Amino acid sequence: MFVGVFVLVAGLVSQTPSEPKGSTPVIRINLEESKVRPYTLPDPLRMENGRAVSTKTDWAARRAELLKLFASQVYGQTPAPSRPIAPRYRIRSEHKEALSGTAIRREIAIEFSDRDDGPGMDLLLYLPKNAPRAAVFLGYNFSGNQSVDLDPAITPSRSTHDPRTRSDARATARQARGADSSAWPLEQIVARGYAVATACYADLDPDYDDGFANGVHPLFYKPGQTQPAADEWGSIGAWAWGLSRALDYLETVGEIDAKRVAVMGHSRLGKTSLWAGAQDPRFAVVVSIQSGCGGAALSKRDFGETVARINTSFPHWFCQNFRKYNDHEDALPVDQHELIALVAPRPVLICSAAGDQWADPKGEFLAALAADPVYKLLGTGGLEVSEMPKPAPRQLVKSTIGYHIRPGGHAVTRDDWEVLMDFADAHLGSHPSTP
Ligand code: GCU
Repeated sequence: MFVGVFVLVAGLVSQTPSEPKGSTPVIRINLEESKVRPYTLPDPLRMENGRAVSTKTDWAARRAELLKLFASQVYGQTPAPSRPIAPRYRIRSEHKEALSGTAIRREIAIEFSDRDDGPGMDLLLYLPKNAPRAAVFLGYNFSGNQSVDLDPAITPSRSTHDPRTRSDARATARQARGADSSAWPLEQIVARGYAVATACYADLDPDYDDGFANGVHPLFYKPGQTQPAADEWGSIGAWAWGLSRALDYLETVGEIDAKRVAVMGHSRLGKTSLWAGAQDPRFAVVVSIQSGCGGAALSKRDFGETVARINTSFPHWFCQNFRKYNDHEDALPVDQHELIALVAPRPVLICSAAGDQWADPKGEFLAALAADPVYKLLGTGGLEVSEMPKPAPRQLVKSTIGYHIRPGGHAVTRDDWEVLMDFADAHLGSHPSTP
């Protein structure tokens, strides 16, 4: 565990393709509150031309402006596909007595091209028997559908066949059946009347820097194009796109209420759920868990992971334009409170962990707080506290912007799920809506 300010020689961690060989950029990382340098946040309620945003109509224009800025400068825009994409849905299995008889388990292959070997995504869906037209939690898993539960009948996700994602013993262990079941307490979720839908994020784009040769990116290349342009999407953009495609499918499922889908994600997948929720207003609730830099944490606040560090360690996550802000967060025309504000007026829950300083819990809270004026303008009440809650005793801020911090480190726990469901009960209603 690091404390204080230190520098990292990025070349030792990994090198971006654009860096000349032998260059060793030095990245300052600060983990001490007293050393945070002053910073100024852009005002979400002021247009780029300086005009104040004071009505809902003004906000619609500002929202469009912010969405464009996040797309062109941070995550990259989703390009138009080279050929129209008409996903095909194939039910691969159904088990009516899953989770000790409390749920129906269904596996659905979603194909984005006319080929069955991809690209596409394998969705695993649990429908609670106790709640007709249930609300749904939709979120990616890291290591394949087979990792979320010990059930031997779950089909391993297609992406776990990718040799690059199985390249070391740790990856193989993570992909074992049930290896990630503590982050997916399915029986607990279903018992509270929620459906769960999950797929492996690597189905959309494997999480390594291969120049975007695999995953869904090539479906969008113009003739002759081999890489996304500087303002086009990286991996987070593709993962977010996939969440919307999963939602398209959920809209066809009679047993659930697709108007009550909470999109959730942890860490890099929390960055993804926020970007998905910002772009796709069909997500009724958006949840980010310890999403940190490029997620809920403010970029201009120099605490924990920085833009330079994330772009160096993970050069494929954001668009190339985002690299302009390496060590120049001050020049960013947006900050992450405005990403949260893009979810408005829908409920958004930001979850932090006190032991996960790399993700800057305070920066996550301050971003939630700085999104509040937008929610207030739209008449939804925003964040009902102005002081950051303590990690213990448990305090879930349940207002339209929700916030929660718990002791402990970087993980999703059963208790986190209780928090998610308490928040969802408050905003989606725990009772089925009428068709
Ligand atoms: C790294 C990375 C974070 C990311 C996390 C994760 O720690 O620096 O930005 O959120 O991985 O996805 O687990």
